[in-house]
Amino acid sequence: MVDLAQLAEPGSPDELLVRRLDLDRLPRHVAVIMDGNGRWATARGLSRVEGHRAGVEAVRDTIEASAQLGLEVLTLYAFSVENWKRPRHEIWTLMNLLKTYLRKELDSLVENDIRLGVLGRWRELDGSVVRALENALERTSDCGGLRLNIALNYSGRSEIVDACRRIVTDWASGGRADIDEATLDRYLYTAELPDPDLLIRTSGEMRLSNFLLWQVAYAEISIIDTLWPDFRRSDLFRAILEYQGRQRRFGGLEDRSGSSAAGAESDSRRA
Ligand code: FPP
Repeated sequence: MVDLAQLAEPGSPDELLVRRLDLDRLPRHVAVIMDGNGRWATARGLSRVEGHRAGVEAVRDTIEASAQLGLEVLTLYAFSVENWKRPRHEIWTLMNLLKTYLRKELDSLVENDIRLGVLGRWRELDGSVVRALENALERTSDCGGLRLNIALNYSGRSEIVDACRRIVTDWASGGRADIDEATLDRYLYTAELPDPDLLIRTSGEMRLSNFLLWQVAYAEISIIDTLWPDFRRSDLFRAILEYQGRQRRFGGLEDRSGSSAAGAESDSRRA
């Protein structure tokens, strides 16, 4: 049950936005490419890492609002395999921001029943980051509310390669089976999770940047001009409103968006 007063201050512009949402037809899985931290900082005469620092508040508000709204899955793209090309200091800062975030917010994640997931080759990260992630995964493993995925050392192509490797390994140990789409799904980092219904990218860039390439096959895409550090729950609500105004046909002729909404039945809501 969504607690409106928690989600938005009574009488605020956010509350007006939330009231326009069809809560029976929310996306089950929202994925976000958080982009524009560097530009945000440069525009203010700050170093790029200040943009990442400011981006943490946007991360916090987005996670909190997603949990309060009752979304099933939120996936945030925090560090790609390609991001290793950045200066060492920037990479170091990003890893430290992640560790600090986990240290400060872990209790609150548990209190809010948020279960952490990590997508990517994250075990190749620095040992201190791996340990912080393992601890957070363990502490939140019994949480049954929002599933919060952080994509770290992630690449959509590598994910598919990793899935193929694991399939071949399983074959070699005698588990040979036909391969179909459902098989591959089970071997992805997102096994058992619904595909994203809505993919949000901030900063106006119109690229997928190697993010969830398999899973976004039928996602609705929302590109917004806001730079990530300025992103707040109001932007999330607006993206969901835009999503709810779209017709999802999955290659067919009728809107089937209700099929991805938890318990959504009503055609009248799909105007
Ligand atoms: C893209 O902006 C953003 C990133 C590569 C990092 C995102 C990380 C955070 C928001 C902070 C830490 C995350 C967590 C989960 C605590 P960019 O640097 O590519 O921006 P630009 O395109 O303007 O240069």
